[in-house]
Amino acid sequence: MTAAPPSLPPGPRAPRALQTARWIARPAAFLDDAARRYGDMFTLKIANEGTWVFLSDPEAVKQVFTGDPRLLHAGEANIVLLPVLGSQSVLLLDDDAHMAQRKLMLPPFHGERMRGYEEIMSEVAAREVERWPAGERLRAWPTMQTITLEVIMRTVFGVRESDRLERLGRALRSSLAWATEPRRMAQLAILGPRRIAERGTLKRALDPTDELIYEEIRSRRAAPDLAERTDVLSLLLQARHEDGSEMSDQELRDELMTLLVAGHETGATALAWALEALTRHPEALGRLREEIDTHEDTYLDAVVKETLRLRPVIALVLRRLMEQMEIGGRVLPAGVNVAPCIYLVHRRPDVYEDPRAFRPERFLEKPPGTYTWIPFGGGVRRCLGASFAQFEMKVVLRELVARLDIRAARPQPERRVRRAIVFAPERGGEIVVERRRRDRPALVA
Ligand code: HEM
Repeated sequence: MTAAPPSLPPGPRAPRALQTARWIARPAAFLDDAARRYGDMFTLKIANEGTWVFLSDPEAVKQVFTGDPRLLHAGEANIVLLPVLGSQSVLLLDDDAHMAQRKLMLPPFHGERMRGYEEIMSEVAAREVERWPAGERLRAWPTMQTITLEVIMRTVFGVRESDRLERLGRALRSSLAWATEPRRMAQLAILGPRRIAERGTLKRALDPTDELIYEEIRSRRAAPDLAERTDVLSLLLQARHEDGSEMSDQELRDELMTLLVAGHETGATALAWALEALTRHPEALGRLREEIDTHEDTYLDAVVKETLRLRPVIALVLRRLMEQMEIGGRVLPAGVNVAPCIYLVHRRPDVYEDPRAFRPERFLEKPPGTYTWIPFGGGVRRCLGASFAQFEMKVVLRELVARLDIRAARPQPERRVRRAIVFAPERGGEIVVERRRRDRPALVA
């Protein structure tokens, strides 16, 4: 018997340009529609991105995450990130170059290292949420971004001086504000990432951040205490390639930019979603508050997991097929991008009972599955910062809930909007806070 010739699963017949427009403007609705019509496996055609085959059956997702990484290239498929992150970013590398870089970057992100970061995380979170004015409508996202950005600059870069933190933070915010403007997505679709990467406007937007990163690299190389330092920059400066050479400035810049960008936008958005969900579920918020007051964190962990399930900030991950491959019962042609779809896997009724409900308890009853709870992707490309991000979410939520009463600012839940490749709450997690009055003396009759 001969194997079936490669073929693509069905998908919308609209022209590529129209599919691209829908993907940019209303990605979640587009995915819901396609899944309803075509099931667990469908094809979308996105300008400058080739052909994407979406997968939402956990068995097919497992095949991709456990498949041979030499035949499933994530770096090539992540090309949309090239303009900002640079060609040496771990997210854009494949094969040996990827594994070598990943190995260099892993140690500081191991679970047991987290305790060392706790103090910085809780100090920054407490300081920032204390500033929130009581009784006024406010957007949580900008504060969450301030927190996650400062945390990443201090833990990953090891920047200690406040004026340096301030300058780097300001430059990065403005570079990212430029890079995530909605029209940038349209330009990417029209010109493609490689041409965007060569444009002067991009260079001008990134230059201030790049200069500060290079300055940090230069001054750290010369630091007398380099050998004793444990931040990622210092470790990367001491790391050596197999041939004994140091990492080049370009390599260091691209990895640091990757950690800065990947490490704070996602976390800030996930935190804003957590607040959005908690303020609409007073019973969950009440249970969380009780637990935090007794210094427990089991329910807190479940809240974080449920937020990342129901409101994943990244909707899909990509792998480019270097050869034709059988996935989910169909032989797919070489050259397509397969896309394990986080958003759709997390909404499967055969995996999650009442999948659209926010119910942290589900993770008390059953731990998350390796191929059914995938907010951080999987396999050899699984997010390097997964433990870091969840730990940070827990610390920030704990500081916040211990200090403040929170409620939704408006009755309507927030819809998802796109911020570059991230799905964010449309009003940035709009809440009203009041200071908590704990330890209030009992009234004397
Ligand atoms: C809630 C927060 C976060 C989410 C939802 C998230 C999600 C993801 C996803 C979906 C991927 C792609 C995985 C794949 O292709 O299978 C990824 C990769 C990555 N993430 Fe995260 N991430 C978060 C936070 C962080 C943090 C805090 C850091 C670092 C400090 C980080 C660093 C990275 C890096 C370096 C990669 C590339 C890994 C590789 O290609 O080998 N992320 N992340």
